[in-house]
Amino acid sequence: MDKFRITGGKPLRGRVSISGAKNSALPCMAAAILTSERVTLHNIPYVRDIITQRRLLEDIGATVLTPELRTHQISASHIEIFEAPYDLVKTMRASVLALGPLLARFGKAKVSLPGGCAIGTRPIDLHLRGFEQLGAEVKLEAGDVVARAPQDGRLRGAEINFAKATVTGTENLMMAATLATGKTILNNAACEPEIDDLAELLNKMGARVRGAGTSTIEIDGVESLGGAEHTIIPDRIETGTFIVAGAITRGDVEIRDCRPEHSVALIAKLKDVGVQIEELNQSTLRVSGTPKLRARDVTTEPHPGFPTDMQAQYMTLMTQVEGRSAIAETVFENRFMHVSELQRMGARIQIDGHTAIVEGPVRLTGARVLASDLRASASLVLAGLVADGETSIERVYHIDRGYERIEAKMRALGGDIERIRESVTGALSSDLEGDAAMA
Ligand code: UD1
Repeated sequence: MDKFRITGGKPLRGRVSISGAKNSALPCMAAAILTSERVTLHNIPYVRDIITQRRLLEDIGATVLTPELRTHQISASHIEIFEAPYDLVKTMRASVLALGPLLARFGKAKVSLPGGCAIGTRPIDLHLRGFEQLGAEVKLEAGDVVARAPQDGRLRGAEINFAKATVTGTENLMMAATLATGKTILNNAACEPEIDDLAELLNKMGARVRGAGTSTIEIDGVESLGGAEHTIIPDRIETGTFIVAGAITRGDVEIRDCRPEHSVALIAKLKDVGVQIEELNQSTLRVSGTPKLRARDVTTEPHPGFPTDMQAQYMTLMTQVEGRSAIAETVFENRFMHVSELQRMGARIQIDGHTAIVEGPVRLTGARVLASDLRASASLVLAGLVADGETSIERVYHIDRGYERIEAKMRALGGDIERIRESVTGALSSDLEGDAAMA
């Protein structure tokens, strides 16, 4: 398994380009199942979860061509299998996004219950209840979700009230409803920019979706959808991670190809901390200067609030600023797995229920630490960049799931970080390495 070796203490300087959003690319790839025509997606990030999603599409009979590394041409004209196998689903929770499109177009689908990041129990009950409200019969059989549309094979529009805003749940139901008969209304829908991006693609395919990006989405079902071409939005979590990287190393980083309007809550919070962030133009941010940074409390919330996917990176920043901060995690349970690793590097953090109390500043010291999930791994990279001495991060396959060659991007900014290749961990890893060589 690959490791990162980081020697801390170098301010990051220079320009970095943000990749496409993984969390938008994954549902957009699944949306290609809804049509027999070709869907072309640009700005697909080069990360492991995308390779997994591509495998899933190919396993069910779709063809995926990549005329360029970040362009996928997906054709689901000959789908032969209507299920996502456990081997793929267990490595990536977002595989569950195949369920809505398969059920909508073919009237049947079988998907294993998902795995993914180990951050709480993460059920999919709200997805399943929604499919039932669209008229599907949903059963759990030996660890698989088996869903069937009504007798005529078509889902029926309905009004669905989500008990809790769920991102992939909203996406799954939105995709399913595009081919249902009649109108569907999704109340308490999640408002993340990735949902809006997916709706834009669906509408280009001929769907009739209104209100995506707000908490009420209306979908008028259509008979069929066609091909489309779409460019995936930039990754707001990668953007945020590089803002924090610039701030924490007291560097000067220009972050290009991003969408600042998708990170309003994060940027406001970091400015309140004292981080100097300038918007050079609509797609470029600059983080610079060595201002005095102050501790500030934060609570994670669904969009447009402070994103849970930036909680771990923010915590690393709080270890380096003057004062005590309370970081409350309200979206997921058990999302403090980075805390014990940061403590091993010298951080003073205490957990009290859903809140972590951080006392800063401390001098972090390099140590051997373990990546436990995707965003936790990013927080450890940031800690390594400011720690005294050498940090070794093991199990970096977690970070490869969602960050495109983070070590190469950090190194191009002057960070002393390298990947130590220990061995190839199976086919997906060798794919990633093989293709990365092409990049
Ligand atoms: C998505 C993102 C993930 C991000 C998360 C929250 C993707 C591929 N992943 O995950 O990076 O951290 O949104 O912004 O887009 N819940 C239920 N029942 C359900 C579904 C969800 O109880 O059926 C709960 C979850 O346990 C969690 C909350 O709802 O407490 C929000 O989860 P959700 O928005 O569904 O997260 P994901 O879509 O899995």
